[in-house]
Amino acid sequence: MEDLIAKARDALKNAYAPYSNFRVGAAVLTKSGRIYTGANVENASYGLTMCAERVAVFKAVTEGDRDIEAVAIVSDAGELVPPCGACRQVIAEFNPNALIIMATADGSKRLVVRLRDLLPMSFSRELLKR
Ligand code: THU
Repeated sequence: MEDLIAKARDALKNAYAPYSNFRVGAAVLTKSGRIYTGANVENASYGLTMCAERVAVFKAVTEGDRDIEAVAIVSDAGELVPPCGACRQVIAEFNPNALIIMATADGSKRLVVRLRDLLPMSFSRELLKR
């Protein structure tokens, strides 16, 4: 867990957030033991902004590594950053029970929860079966 948080903190340095000045770093741990990092990437066309968590998840998935076990999220804003609704849904696609680790960059605050508790009654592929 310490390593995952450290990797998310490192990723924070590459956040591109000139509009909000709100930098977020994320790190995804998969069953294989590999770690994929991400940071938020903003755009002058604001709605095109991509969150740190989804960057990290998409990196893992597009490397063929889909068994997500944990996602660490770090911000330097001094507060814990819970994943947004869109990121919760994207993580749930791969593991509704993933561990979500939130931490501040200075290490003063930390919270660990299960995604299931952040996204109850989620829409899932089971509902698409007919
Ligand atoms: N952001 C993330 O990267 N992850 C979150 O979970 C919440 C929000 C980013 C998006 C945007 O660049 C900035 O934080 C402010 O919303």
